[in-house]
Amino acid sequence: HDLYGTARANSKGINLNDRPQLDALTQALAQQQGKTWDLACLVCGARTGGDPMAVKSPADRTETVGTIRPALVTDREAALKAALKAQQSWNRLGGKARADILRKMGDALENEMEVLIGLMVREAGKTLSDGIAEVREAVDFCRYYAMQAEAQFADPTQLPGPTGERNELMLEGRGVFLSISPWNFPLAIFTGQLAAALAAGNAVIAKPAEQTSLIAAYATELFHQAGVPGDVLHLLVGTGPEVAAPLVEDERIAGVVFTGSTETAKIINRSLAARDGAIVPLIAETGGQNAMIVDTTALTEQVTDAVMDSAFGSAGQRCSALRILCIQDDVADDVIHMVKGALSQRAVSHPGDPVTDIGPIIDEQARAGLEKHIARMDKEARFIARADLPSDLQNGTYFAPCIYEINSISQLDREIFGPVLHILRYKAEALDSLMDQLAATGYGLTCGIHSRLEGRWNSLFEKSMAGNVYVNRNMVGAVVGVQPFGGRGLSGTGFKAGGPHYLLRFAIERVRTVNT
Ligand code: NAD
Ligand code: ALA
Repeated sequence: HDLYGTARANSKGINLNDRPQLDALTQALAQQQGKTWDLACLVCGARTGGDPMAVKSPADRTETVGTIRPALVTDREAALKAALKAQQSWNRLGGKARADILRKMGDALENEMEVLIGLMVREAGKTLSDGIAEVREAVDFCRYYAMQAEAQFADPTQLPGPTGERNELMLEGRGVFLSISPWNFPLAIFTGQLAAALAAGNAVIAKPAEQTSLIAAYATELFHQAGVPGDVLHLLVGTGPEVAAPLVEDERIAGVVFTGSTETAKIINRSLAARDGAIVPLIAETGGQNAMIVDTTALTEQVTDAVMDSAFGSAGQRCSALRILCIQDDVADDVIHMVKGALSQRAVSHPGDPVTDIGPIIDEQARAGLEKHIARMDKEARFIARADLPSDLQNGTYFAPCIYEINSISQLDREIFGPVLHILRYKAEALDSLMDQLAATGYGLTCGIHSRLEGRWNSLFEKSMAGNVYVNRNMVGAVVGVQPFGGRGLSGTGFKAGGPHYLLRFAIERVRTVNT
């Protein structure tokens, strides 16, 4: 088996530049428009939970996407007890059989692409292109971890030993994993966490972000239809403190896989450390304070395209997004001029409209946080540009993307999770010090470099703390198996999602020595 998947291909999407494909997608989405989803927690494969709660669309708060039933305390206990009982038989099924099920899940996601995109447009405010990319990533995670399950979890590895002795190394699941996922990749990260934990032989209790529970519930039903037993995978919907925190504290949980903010990861880490009983792993993928470095040899048009994608794509709601554009002062005015012009051409609009570049912010609380930051920037930074918001968007949680010039990295004390770009000029002789300051933030997720000088790529790569470094292109949209993704320090624990070592953190190693 090929651990790196050199012969595999990533999933295919929908080409929005091809008229028949675009028309087919928009027709499929139009048919879903009036649909009201009615989903719930899933415990032992059955829908359960408290009273249904209405789910509103961030694109238009007057639109009800559906209802979801949050987890009750009894659901939590039932899920945990069933998962503990079922895990060993799932583990014993072996990597090959689990891989077959995950491949079926990948196929199911691909077959349901239009439905999933429609749901993500409505519940998460995803644009069409982001929705397509997200389904593809979810499919890729299933197939990639299926391949890893076969490579690492199917057959024991024979080790050397003296004559008459057989030594075998094997990987097994740890037990019941708790998956806690964010709203900004409500399908891809949710599916990726589950696929990885399941591939390695764990039972799973999934607690998705409360903002995007419908997507998670639908994906969980697809996992079950693909063959993951209901008692092996459970879905508990609700807030983190109410539903996930008590499970984090519970000694019966054998590991936590978390993607979300650095602050929440620290709360979970402290809670795990305070538990009695076994020490268990926390796999955390968290935030970033990501910079792009532009020197005088960079191609201005290329930089402009990369900045637009990286800072404003997905309304800046990506952990990988560009937050600080560092431009050598000799070319700063030219680059700023181009970036400002490009921002004025970006369409902020309803996410289901094919012409939309930038959709809504996830909710009112997130938008209020961005407005607060802008109010501070208005006092402390130089205003450069802000895009126009069309007047017909008042019902959604939209936020006009904007650009400010700052004097120092210290003006940003935390990750600003939205379409706000900060520009910082640097002098050539201060580049080393700039890299030191970026490293001193403690984050290490993504970094962009724009330069024609190979020596500069190498020296900046060495100085950067970032886990993913992109040269002369955008710095978002890591592809499974191609750019394994994840950071260090305040940005996460590793190993990288969509990489060859990820499943190992979900596993225990065992050795069997037999005197034959
Ligand atoms: P968040 O930390 O607010 O929430 C993430 C999840 O944690 C949600 O399911 C939430 O309900 C749960 N949660 C909240 N409080 C909890 C608690 N006390 N105990 C247990 N669980 C709790 O993050 P978010 O707003 O959903 O997502 C955005 C953040 O995620 C950003 O910081 C972004 O950078 C990060 N992110 C990182 C990556 C990565 O791969 N590094 C990818 C996507 C998003
Ligand atoms: N994996 C996502 C990206 O690369 C977060 O943008």
